[in-house]
Amino acid sequence: MTDVVSLLAQIEDTGRDPRGPGYLRPGFSRVERELRDWFVAEAESRGLDVEVDQNGITWAWATPPGADAVVTGSHLDSVPGGGEFDGPLGVASALAAIDELRDSGRLARARRPLAIAVFPEEEGSRFGLSCLGSRLLTGAVGPKRALGLTDDRGDTFAEVLADHGLDPARVGRDEERLGRIGSFLELHVEQGVGLIDTDQPVAIGSSILGHGRWNVRFEGQGNHAGTTPMTRRADPVVAAARIVGDIPTIVSRFDGAVATVGRTRVHPGGTNVIASAVDLWLDIRHPDDEVVQDVLEEIAARARDRASGAGYRNQEVSLTVDQESYSPTTHFHGELTRRLSSLLPQAPLQSTGAGHDAGILAAHVPSAMLFVRNPTGVSHAPEEACEDDDARAGVRALADALAMELGVEEPAGEEAGAGGTEAGGPEVEGRR
Ligand code: HGY
Ligand code: MN
Ligand code: MN
Repeated sequence: MTDVVSLLAQIEDTGRDPRGPGYLRPGFSRVERELRDWFVAEAESRGLDVEVDQNGITWAWATPPGADAVVTGSHLDSVPGGGEFDGPLGVASALAAIDELRDSGRLARARRPLAIAVFPEEEGSRFGLSCLGSRLLTGAVGPKRALGLTDDRGDTFAEVLADHGLDPARVGRDEERLGRIGSFLELHVEQGVGLIDTDQPVAIGSSILGHGRWNVRFEGQGNHAGTTPMTRRADPVVAAARIVGDIPTIVSRFDGAVATVGRTRVHPGGTNVIASAVDLWLDIRHPDDEVVQDVLEEIAARARDRASGAGYRNQEVSLTVDQESYSPTTHFHGELTRRLSSLLPQAPLQSTGAGHDAGILAAHVPSAMLFVRNPTGVSHAPEEACEDDDARAGVRALADALAMELGVEEPAGEEAGAGGTEAGGPEVEGRR
């Protein structure tokens, strides 16, 4: 039987970024389709019953589908230049955990249904809205807005979905499949350094920071690079460059806030052309949603100054700021998280600054996360890492957690130890 390390090795050459190191696995692309086909083949080789739903989510049932199901899984798409583990570690670990449950005889004694879910376009790198699949499933985004989303080539999500053999008219909140989920548990490579200095390979998620994405667009006057005096320009690139330089100072005034401009687009983009427009995409995160708004307002106010400062007489540089998505700070399910802490007493509780499908589902079903140590702490870059033995420890932890949720007696405690490091955990909510 393949273990998680060899499962990941099977896809390590799929979707490498041709422009440089790392991976380029956009949602609903040929590459994501190849990865999904790999997952389906592995799931079916284990006798799982696989279906792809109208939102492009792949479900693999280890038991007959049914209510109050225990669901685990993650995503297979990546950011541009992304690492090997962000997403695929959770999917491969889910397959390996089912092997573990089957080999230990625990799957046969499950008292609840069990499935793996693979969500498309979690990164939002193609259509700009993160967790597109889980947002559609839960209704967090409506069909009209989703179908109108476009990628960099101007293709709409509706067109791409149809190319994928799915019916755009059917996307949207899926009461039946959402109603089947009793609890959702996502394993994910850690995206940060919380575990690096501990002797623990696995952590339990407590919450996800609030995070939003905005399109910031400066528009000026396109012109000739050689014939336009420097004193007679309305150059949006100048305004954009200045506000990007301002952001670290602005954000430093808000303790714990982070803001990033990781993507820009200059229009029309000619070397000998003064641009007519520049798009920046702004990502702001903080545990307090109000602080995110405060940071945005300060950046927007300064951007307006930078825009007016880059204009010339009646040729002004204008500014628009449009929110593309917002996910409020999310606390994982208190009781489920507490059960995980008692099952994995050594595992620290830690919040994350990264968004996940589990964060979207958490507003609808009891959801929780397990993080597996990343020795570099780097993510969304090729240096993202996960040691083989830590990945295997993650699978054992996931298998034990799934067995607990499936109502199978807890295994003989392995590596039992001290309780979670954060006081208590989120307030206890009733278990569904
Ligand atoms: O952007 C995020 O936080 C996640 O990795 N999609
Ligand atoms: Mn991820
Ligand atoms: Mn990611």
